[in-house]
Amino acid sequence: MELTKDIKEKLEKLDKKYASIGQDLPAYLDGLLYANPLHYWDYTYVDTLLSLQHPKTDFPDEQIFIIYHQITELYFKLALLEVEQISNNGKKLSDDGRDMGWNDSLSAHFFVERLKRINSYFEVLTSSFGIMINGMEKEQFLKFRMSLLPSSGFQSAQYRLIEISCSHLINLTDKEQREKLKDASIEEMAHHFYWKDGAIDVKTGKKTLMLENFEKKYMAQFIQRAHQFRDKNLIAKYQQLSVEEQQNEDLIHQLRLLDLNVNVNWPLVHYKSAVRYLSSGKEDIDATGGTNWQKYLPPRFQKRIFFPELWTEEEMNNWGRQWVVKALSES
Ligand code: HEM
Repeated sequence: MELTKDIKEKLEKLDKKYASIGQDLPAYLDGLLYANPLHYWDYTYVDTLLSLQHPKTDFPDEQIFIIYHQITELYFKLALLEVEQISNNGKKLSDDGRDMGWNDSLSAHFFVERLKRINSYFEVLTSSFGIMINGMEKEQFLKFRMSLLPSSGFQSAQYRLIEISCSHLINLTDKEQREKLKDASIEEMAHHFYWKDGAIDVKTGKKTLMLENFEKKYMAQFIQRAHQFRDKNLIAKYQQLSVEEQQNEDLIHQLRLLDLNVNVNWPLVHYKSAVRYLSSGKEDIDATGGTNWQKYLPPRFQKRIFFPELWTEEEMNNWGRQWVVKALSES
C-alpha cells in the first residue's frame, strides 16, 4: 500500500494527538493491529439490554409494563443529555474532533436546537403512552400490579432530575409554601418538594413507604443536583442570555412547549392510564404506591410550571384545565 500524503498527514495528526497527552503513537498502532473488529452487539450491549426484564409474575402483559417503563427511562436519559449540553453551553470540538471543553457562552440557536430535541422526546413519550392505556389487559394489570407493591413510577429518579435541571428549585416546591420559601436554602426547599404531597397514604395520612424508600435512596443526589444546577438550569440559562436574545421567538416557543410537554401533556396521558386501570365507579382502587393519586396527578391540581416568567397570569390560572376535563370525559 502506498503511503499517500493524506495518510502521512493523518499519522502526523495522530502523533500530535498522543504526544499532547504524553503517549507514544507506535504503541497505539500496535493496539489497532491486535484489536478485533467491532460488532453491533458489542457496541449496543443489545444482549444485556434484552436480558433486563424480570417479571414478578407469569402474566404476559407484565413484560409490556416493564419494557415501556424502560423505554421511558431511556428517553428521559436522552432528555437529560440535551439539558446538560445546554447547561454546559455545548461542547467545543478541536479541528481533529477532540473534545476541548465547554464554550464560554450559549448561543440562542444552539439552545433552540437542543430544546427541539427534548420536545421531540417528550412528544414521542406522550403519543406512545397508548401502549400503557390500551395495550394491556386490565384483568392482568390489576393482578400483576399487586406483586409490585409498594413500588411506583413515582420513584423514577431521572424524572425528578429533569425537573431540577429545567427550573429554579422554588418552582418545584409545594405551591402553598412558596412565598415563605422564597429565600430559603436548597436543603430547605428540597424538604418541601411538591411531589412529597402526592405520596401521602390515603388511609393513614402519613408519608407512604414508597416515598420513604425513594427519599432514602435519592434525596442526597437530588440536593447535589440542585446545587450544581442552581445557576445553570434551563430558565437560569435563558435569563443569562442578552436582552435581545431573550426576545428570540423560537426560543420562547420551545421553552413554553417544553413546559407543556413535561408538565401538562405527558402528565395527562399518564393520568389517563391511572384513570383507566384504577378508577372503578364510586370507590377508586388504591395505587401501588398507596397514594392520593386522584387529587395529586392531574396537572390542573399540581400546577407545576418550570418557566412562570414565560406565561401570563391567565395562562397559569388555567394551567392544564381543559385537558383534565377532556381526559376524564374520554376515559
Ligand atoms: C398502566 C400504567 C401506569 C399507571 C396505572 C400509573 C399509575 C401511577 C400512579 C397511581 C401514580 C401516583 C403514585 C402512586 O401511588 O404510585 C403514578 C406516578 C408516577 N408514575 Fe405512573 N403509572 C403508569 C405508568 C407509568 C410509566 C410508564 C411511567 C414511566 C416512567 C410512570 C412514571 C410515573 C411518574 C414519574 C410518577 C410521578 C408523577 C408526578 O409526581 O407527578 N408511570 N403513576
